[in-house]
Amino acid sequence: MIDLTPDRNSLDPIEIASRDEIAGLQEKRLTWTLDHAYRNSDFFRKRFDDHGAHPGDFKSLADIAKFPFTVKQDLRDTYPFGMFATPREDLVRIHGSSGTTGKPTVVGYTANDISNWSDLIARSIRAAGGRKGNILHNAYGYGLFTGGLGAHYGAERLGCTVVPISGGMTERQVTLIEDFRPDVIMVTPSYMLSILDEYQHRGLDARKCSLKVGIFGAEPWTNAMREEIQEAFDMHAVDIYGLSEIMGPGVAQECVETKDGLHVWEDHFYPEIIDPVSENVLPDGEMGELVFTTLTKEGLPMVRYRTRDLTRILPGTARSMRRIEKITGRSDDMIILRGVNVFPTQIEEQILKCDGLSAHFQIELVRTGRMDAMIVHAEATPAASSAEARSASERELAHHIKSTIGISSKVEIHEPDGVARSQGKAQRVVDNRPKE
Ligand code: DLL
Repeated sequence: MIDLTPDRNSLDPIEIASRDEIAGLQEKRLTWTLDHAYRNSDFFRKRFDDHGAHPGDFKSLADIAKFPFTVKQDLRDTYPFGMFATPREDLVRIHGSSGTTGKPTVVGYTANDISNWSDLIARSIRAAGGRKGNILHNAYGYGLFTGGLGAHYGAERLGCTVVPISGGMTERQVTLIEDFRPDVIMVTPSYMLSILDEYQHRGLDARKCSLKVGIFGAEPWTNAMREEIQEAFDMHAVDIYGLSEIMGPGVAQECVETKDGLHVWEDHFYPEIIDPVSENVLPDGEMGELVFTTLTKEGLPMVRYRTRDLTRILPGTARSMRRIEKITGRSDDMIILRGVNVFPTQIEEQILKCDGLSAHFQIELVRTGRMDAMIVHAEATPAASSAEARSASERELAHHIKSTIGISSKVEIHEPDGVARSQGKAQRVVDNRPKE
């Protein structure tokens, strides 16, 4: 893989500013956000008043803990436009994330918000190793989902030639990668595996493709998956994180030169880690739930939004801004099986240890009698798809899961192509337990 470390002179000065400078800017911008939210959003004014917190109580960064949390349900309760802090006419775009209830949670952006977002995506692509003039294949879904358009505007801002292919139609993805010869791809890691399948179906060597770096996010993925993708495509694989409620992709980004977790763009977002039960703020380095306050958002400022994502805050390395560790999972995705907590990413790690298995998998939850059970559906590689090889892989995977995670699970190894494919975010857990 070639060295893609960006020239230090090309970075935004704040990326390598001193911690004091960053904290000073955060304090100034938090003062503005709290005041803006209180004065211009009926929702936040009532929430602050009920909590007995006034923007004037904020004097320094630690005072943020005096303010109330915001949660996804608040967006549902104020559906569609009830949380905005600017007149609807000043919003130039709406996005939404798909909800389980059928109605999306709606977020909105002013022209300044879109411009800041584009700057942050441009910064993220540069940190990932992309450059002005690169061809960028954008396979994040276009539409209400923030991935497609968010990445698109930032890639244009950096000066890339964007191929706005969106997700799906995997055959055409490969045709255009082969014909247009992009340098950068932006896509979910699980869909990158579907693209890899298509290379293999065509008998093409993915290592010979033009891609130099993939910017993968929108779902949890492991370092083992990073190795798998880097090896298969002979390219760098780096992580991008974000969520619609805070902005979309580009809230935090991993640097290609270190690949050691994601730098939070702290000039626009203030991160905290809390204990999800006591709701107390935890010191840097401790695992807990990630919480964000936006620092510049006009349309939809967010105060202490509980992401449900579990990680910890680490000091800066390639940039002065602090990092979050690669996200292991969401509290919502945690499976509790006979008292043991399991995240799909832990299963992914064990699957990738088995030579005879590809990286596709799904976890099915079932109930037999009064006991919950987990069935791991994984898939044989073409070279290990005979009945004997599959039953050997089945035993191997069940053993790894038992010895590292500590639970007994049923493992079913399917033939190649036997596990459902992702076209965007992968559905890792299928819950077939009877509804109570
Ligand atoms: O997934 C925004 C995005 C698009 C991020 C493209 C990166 C790339 P939502 O649909 O609102 O927004 O989903 C946000 O996805 O709270 C996490 O649980 C999860 N997520 C996003 N990025 C990562 C990542 C977009 N790099 C939710 N690692 C978040 C793990 C991620 N989980």
